[in-house]
Amino acid sequence: MSLLAANNLSLSFGGVHAVEDVSFSVNKGEVFSIIGPNGAGKTTLFNLISRIYDASTGSIRFNEQDISQVPTHRIAELGIARTFQNTELFEQETVLRNLLIGQHVHRRTNLLQEFLFLPSVRQQELRFRKDVEDVIDLLDLQHYRHQVIANLPYGVRKMVEVARALCLKPRLLLLDEPSSGLNPEETEDLSFQIEDINEELGTTIIMVEHDMNLVSRTSTRVMALADGKLIAVGSPVEIQQHPEVLKAYLGE
Ligand SMILES: Nc1ncnc2c1ncn2[C@@H]1O[C@H](COP(=O)(O)OP(=O)(O)O)[C@@H](O)[C@H]1O
Ligand SMILES: [Mg+2]
Repeated sequence: MSLLAANNLSLSFGGVHAVEDVSFSVNKGEVFSIIGPNGAGKTTLFNLISRIYDASTGSIRFNEQDISQVPTHRIAELGIARTFQNTELFEQETVLRNLLIGQHVHRRTNLLQEFLFLPSVRQQELRFRKDVEDVIDLLDLQHYRHQVIANLPYGVRKMVEVARALCLKPRLLLLDEPSSGLNPEETEDLSFQIEDINEELGTTIIMVEHDMNLVSRTSTRVMALADGKLIAVGSPVEIQQHPEVLKAYLGE
């Protein structure tokens, strides 16, 4: 069953067709990868799904609902969370604080209730804590819990960003180039973590990624884009051997 469906999406910047008439759908439970040369429109597609940009044509359905008009700050509540190509964390806060701050979208209490610290607030805080600790365990971040982001190696920061997105308990997780800047060992760890997120939490994942080894290991299907257009969708093996995909990369 489809969780996300994009229909005829297009967006141009000036004369550049960043995304041009792209349609695809992602099934519940999939790890769906998007590949393509630089400038293919991959990040723009993420920005359309997370509603940072309005499409000039087309529509997006998530979980049976048309989200084409939903404002970007409501996307997390609906169940979509993302990471950015360049990590965006609170540099002077600890890992734990970064994860707790991210959860505010799920607050069901109001400011007066929080000021009075009513039982409902206390219960909510305990639940948030528990969720955060579960994510910390899942992604092996125990050791870094109280460390400040600015002092952490790049690979760990990237994982904290994934953790922050997961603390929103998304049904759909969007990862933009999760392996960029990671060494081979960290990339291998990442492939296991993607599997764990997908299998243990049941989270559907859409991932923009250049590392074909990581893509092949983790993905159910792959979509190739070039110059804003969809070239092919298929299994990792089909896409790696697809003549149009090879041509798009050779032209880079
Ligand atoms: N905010 C923007 N303003 C102008 N041009 C943009 C903007 N975002 C993306 N583009 C252009 O759209 C095209 C696709 O970019 P992008 O989606 O970032 O590609 P990818 O993530 O596949 O490398 C590129 O030509 C890029 O320069
Ligand atoms: Mg990009």
